[in-house]
Parts: sequence; C-alpha cells; structure tokens
Amino acid sequence: MSSDEYPTDEPAVVTCGLPYANGDLHVGHLRSYTAGDAYSRALRKLGQQTAFVSGSDMHGTPIAVGAEQDGVDPETFAMAYHEQYEATFPKFNVEFDNYGHTHDETNIELTREIVSTLEDEGYVYEKEIKVAWDPEEDQPLPDRYVRGTCPYCGETARGDECDEGCGRHLEPGEIEDPVSTITGNSAEYRDREHKFFAVSDLSDYLTEFLDGLEGTSNARNQPREWIESGLQDWCITRDMDWGIDYPGAEDDLVLYVWVDAPIEYVSSTKQYSERVGAETYDWEAVWKPQATDGDGEVDAAAGAPGATDATDADAAGSRNGEIIHVIGRDIIQHHTIFWPAMLHVAGYTAPRAVCATGFVTINGKGLSTSRNRAIWAQEYLDEGFHPDLLRYYLTTMGGFQQDLDFSWERFAERVNGELVGTVGNFFYRSLLFAARNFDGTPEVDVSEDVAERIEAAIDEFRDAVNEYDLREGSEAGVRLARFGNEYIQGHEPWKLEDGGAEQAQVIRDCVQVAKAVAVLVEPFMPEKADRAFAQLGEDVDASEVTLEAATEAPGAFGEPDELFEQVEDERVDELEAALAEKIAAAEDDADDGDADADDGDADDGDADAAETESDDSTASEDASMTDVEPLSEDRISFDEFQAMDLRVGRVEAAEPIEGADKLAKLDVDLGAETRTVVAGIKQLHDLDDLPGTKVVVVANMEQNELFGVESNGMVLAAGEDADLLTTHGDSEPGTKVR
Ligand code: 2FM
Ligand code: ZN
Repeated sequence: MSSDEYPTDEPAVVTCGLPYANGDLHVGHLRSYTAGDAYSRALRKLGQQTAFVSGSDMHGTPIAVGAEQDGVDPETFAMAYHEQYEATFPKFNVEFDNYGHTHDETNIELTREIVSTLEDEGYVYEKEIKVAWDPEEDQPLPDRYVRGTCPYCGETARGDECDEGCGRHLEPGEIEDPVSTITGNSAEYRDREHKFFAVSDLSDYLTEFLDGLEGTSNARNQPREWIESGLQDWCITRDMDWGIDYPGAEDDLVLYVWVDAPIEYVSSTKQYSERVGAETYDWEAVWKPQATDGDGEVDAAAGAPGATDATDADAAGSRNGEIIHVIGRDIIQHHTIFWPAMLHVAGYTAPRAVCATGFVTINGKGLSTSRNRAIWAQEYLDEGFHPDLLRYYLTTMGGFQQDLDFSWERFAERVNGELVGTVGNFFYRSLLFAARNFDGTPEVDVSEDVAERIEAAIDEFRDAVNEYDLREGSEAGVRLARFGNEYIQGHEPWKLEDGGAEQAQVIRDCVQVAKAVAVLVEPFMPEKADRAFAQLGEDVDASEVTLEAATEAPGAFGEPDELFEQVEDERVDELEAALAEKIAAAEDDADDGDADADDGDADDGDADAAETESDDSTASEDASMTDVEPLSEDRISFDEFQAMDLRVGRVEAAEPIEGADKLAKLDVDLGAETRTVVAGIKQLHDLDDLPGTKVVVVANMEQNELFGVESNGMVLAAGEDADLLTTHGDSEPGTKVR
C-alpha cells in the first residue's frame, strides 16, 4: 500500500464484498456492486492499472440453512445462485475482471496455505469452548442455526452476528438464551475443542493499520473503538460438514466462512492474473509486498510470512499494490480487524482503503426481502429501464457511507432532471447543431476559457477519486454539462451566421465539452457514455479511454439521437402503486403466519448492508418503529454542518412551473438579495397563501436548472407533505440559522 495519489505506479485491485449465494439480487446488493464497479472504472480513467474482482460466498450457515429449506445439497444450491449472479452483474454493466467463488480449487488451496501459515507463525491455538447444541436433534448449532440475545446490547441476534442491534460479530458461546432455529428448542451449551486465531496479539499492528487506512471514516472509527475496548481472539472453526475442511482435522471441523470468504479476493485476483498473464496483470505485485533496493527496483519478496513487525517490509523499502475493498457497513469488523490481521501474519499486503456503504431504504423504510419491500434486480430490468439509470442513482445519491433511500419518484426526478434535462439535453442540442452545420467537429481550436473549464472538471474528478467520493466524481461531469447548457444558451449560436467563424467557435467548444462530459460520466453510466462516444464518431469506447481523451478533438459525425428518455409521472405512479401492492401482499402473507417460512428465499444482502430490518422480523413487530426512517449513524462534524449556509428567508412570490407536476417557483427574500428557488411543493401547498411565509433556505446549495428555471437555493421541508420549516420568533430574512 502506498499513500501516493492515484494513479500510482503499482497495480490496484478493487474488490466487492462477496454475496452469499443464497437468494436473488436486489437494489441493496446493487448499491455496493455498482459502487465498486464505478470506482474501479474511475481509477482506470486516471490511468491506474486496476483489476476489479469478487466472487460468490458459497460456505457457512447462510448456505447450509437455505439448502436444507430447498431440500438440496449446499453445493448445488449455492452453485445455482452463483451462476445467477454471474449472469446478472453484467446486465448492470458491473464488469468484474474475475468473478469466482469460494468453493473453487484456487480458493480452497490458498485458504489452506494461509491457515497453515497462521499456524506455523504460532498464531493459532486450540481451546475448549461452549458451543450451542440442539438436544432434540443432537447436533451442534453454529452461527445461523441459533438465535438468542446479544450480550452487548440486549437485542435478539444470530449466533455469530448481532443483526438486529449493535452489529457486532459474536463468538460461539456468547449469545444468551440460545434457541435452535431448527426445532425452536432452547439450546444447551456443550464443550468442544476449537481453533482460535490470536487476534488480540495484533492490537498494536491493527491500530497502526487503521491510522493509515483510507476510504470511509466509518471503517476506521468503529474498529478503533473495538480495539480500545479489548480485542478477543477469533474462533476460526465450526462443527459442520459444509465448508473448507480445517487442514489436518479428522472430524466435521470446517473453517468459519469468514476465513475463506475474504481469501477469495486474493484467489479471484490470482485467477484473473493467470488468465491474462502476469505481464499484463501480476496478482503477486498487488497482494505480496515486493522488497526493493535503493533504486526502487524489485529485489525479493519482503512479505515473507512472519514479517509480523509492521515495519519489517517498510524498513527494507517495499512496493505493494493498492487494495481497495468496497463493502457494506455491517461487515466493517471483518474487513478492518480479522482480515488485515490474517493478511499481516500470512505476509500479504494490507488494504489501502475500505469503503463501507450505508444502508438502503425503500421509500424511507428499511429494505426487507421477506416483506418484499425491495426492488429486485430482475424486476428493475423487466420494467425496461436502462441499467445505467439505476447505476447513476445508486452511485451518486449520496456519499459511499450515507444511507440511500430509493423511491421511484426520486428515481424519475433524477433521470428527468440531471440526465434528460442537463446531460442529455446539452449533448443532443450541441451535437445536432454540429452535425447539421459542420458535419461534426468544426475545425478550430477550443477557446481558452472553455479548455480551462474542462481542465477544472478533470481536476475535480481526479480529486474526488482520491477522496473516494463517487458523488463528487459524477458531479464533475454533470456540472460540466450544466456549464455547457449555459454556454450554448448564452452564446445563442442559432442567432449567428450559419457555418460562420463565430458559430464554429461556439459549436467547437460545445463539442469538446460534450466529449469531456462523456469521459467523466463513463464510470457511472458506461453504456450511455459508450453510446455518446459513438455519436461523436469515436471509434473507441468511452470505457477504454483515460482522462486525456476529454481534451482530444472528436472528428466528423452525423445527427445524434436522444441519450436519455423522460420517465413520465403516470409511470411513476404505476410503479409506486405496484410497489405498495406487493408490500401489502407480503404483509397479508405475514399476517397469515407465512412470513417466518420465507426467511430462506433470499438472504438479507449482508455484503451490501442492504437491509435495516431483519428478514427474521415478524408481523408482530411494532409498526410505528418501521414507519420512521432510521436515524443516521453517520455523524457529521461541526465543520461539515457549518459548511451549509442556512438562512431565514421570506417568500415574496410563488407560482407554478408550467409543464412540471410538482414544482413551484418561489422568489425568496434572503436579506442581501432575493433568490429564485424551485421547490417540489406545487400540489402540497396553496401557492397563493405562501407570500409572507418565513422559510429556512440552504443558501449555498449548488444551482440547478429545472424545467428551464434556474434554482438558486433550497427550501427545507419535512416529510412527504413538504411541511415547510419556518421560524418560531421574528428573525429577519437573511438571519443565519445555526
Ligand atoms: O456478509 C456477507 O454477505 C458475506 N458473504 C460477505 C463476505 S465479504 C468477504 F470478506 F468475503
Ligand atoms: Zn448487539
């Protein structure tokens, strides 16, 4: 790992958390996988050599339980889902360089090798512990075969994870009041010998590791607290027959699924390397520290197992690849404690960054597969929407770590506003003009101002990638398109002499801006960007080029067609109604007592932190609890709050915006000036009553054009009814809200 800015001289690998192969994919999963894909594409745009890998998680009780419910053997069960995932990801333009699975030979072999190294290095020991046991079935109850009470927070929890409360990993024997999920009987505890990995010996290393870890702040802060409260050693075996046999063990002792799952990151990279050849991509250059001599030339392996003094390799001078893990925030502990500890002892490279995504909610409520409050991957595709639209929504709705709410209404708003209204509109009008009047790119140089504006967008993009900020990365392109719209509008080429020098200059500038926009939005909407490139007459795909292409002139091209299609209001109403209907149907089923039976139909997408409710929750749960959007766990700093310029405003005029169903144009007095602000309140308020009303405005909200009206601020409102925030006293317009 280096902390040089991207692009570095070393190869990078971006990984996505492995989905358990036990249920259909939904929007919660897609959030992580589209983010990982977009980030790896963004790195490549910078010129960083990058592989993007993942695989299916085939072992553990999530698979064993599902297989039992379906009456098939675990391998057949998991393999069917693995094949489904392999086929589904590309439909969303999530293009892994390698998508393997944890049950293949490469992973089994590498897992055994790594575990043997942990043993050889003296970090594995045996200990007798209490494991939950079903007395009726006379069988052990590892992990998901048992539920009980979390000893840390008192919520109900699974055997190995507090899935409804504090989210902590639980060790065997920790759960209180254990109940067998097979028979519903109270479980007993029995003594068994198990293997432990001495993670507690690595607290100092892990503290140092976290200090240098990049990515999202939640991936550093939570583990620091766990280390401070004292790390426990980690039980790495289970009494089961499905999984990777513990090397040398005689009875049904397999490795805990969380040992072999992350090793698949390495195995998958290795498989990619073997396919393309090490001269094209060398997995060892990423995963195994390479010692260098004084000139930085690779000398010999510095990552020999047992180089457990964190500084051994560094002191010799070493080069490592850049490992970037994209995960759901429910599996931070595994990726920032157990996994780096294993890598370190086994002599592998430490991850450079962990980016942990927040939860996904649907219309403000927790995504729940058993309640069918989910948008399934196939369901989305069956609606006929382009995959890039969902990619754009999921990768740019908030930062990596923010919770993300999906609603068809907001989906339509973003498609119609940013994609149709800003990017598509600019692209179409510029290229159409260029094609008709100049057969493509006019033969003049781009003007200096416009070239500088493009360079600024490229810099914004580069900074965003270095800050692991996908939203800002996408904004670089969308803002540039907005600039393009203003530019063409301001220069009115239609009023200039057809084919004349002045017109040629304006159109030349617009064509270059259009090409730069296509380059910059490619990580988020690869297929749309490829199509934009084809419309510009380029003979390569936008996904194949680096940022330099943004400033290289396109050539001749013909008339374009529209890149994006409007999502009509009626369609949104239909989609929302269908969603409500299917949720109601699932609730009826739950009332009939069926909900518990469908736990196994789809896992809860742990790898992507998809759900804020457990699949195991029943209809008896307090409904009022689920009506309120969960409070965000992602704290912001006071400085971040201060960055918002919140002001008291007074509405001076309010009128509907023609053609828009929901939008109104407000003139708001902010003391220093009166601003035009567009707000989605047309049907929710009597606009004639609004003048004189005091409101709270985000005055430094970025400007946005909606239905041809430039909105210069944002009015704050609460809930579905857009209840406008006002002041209790008599603060004057312009007063700062703190
Ligand atoms: O929580 C889960 O869904 C796991 N299947 C994630 C594994 S990610 C990795 F480390 F392998
Ligand atoms: Zn808990």
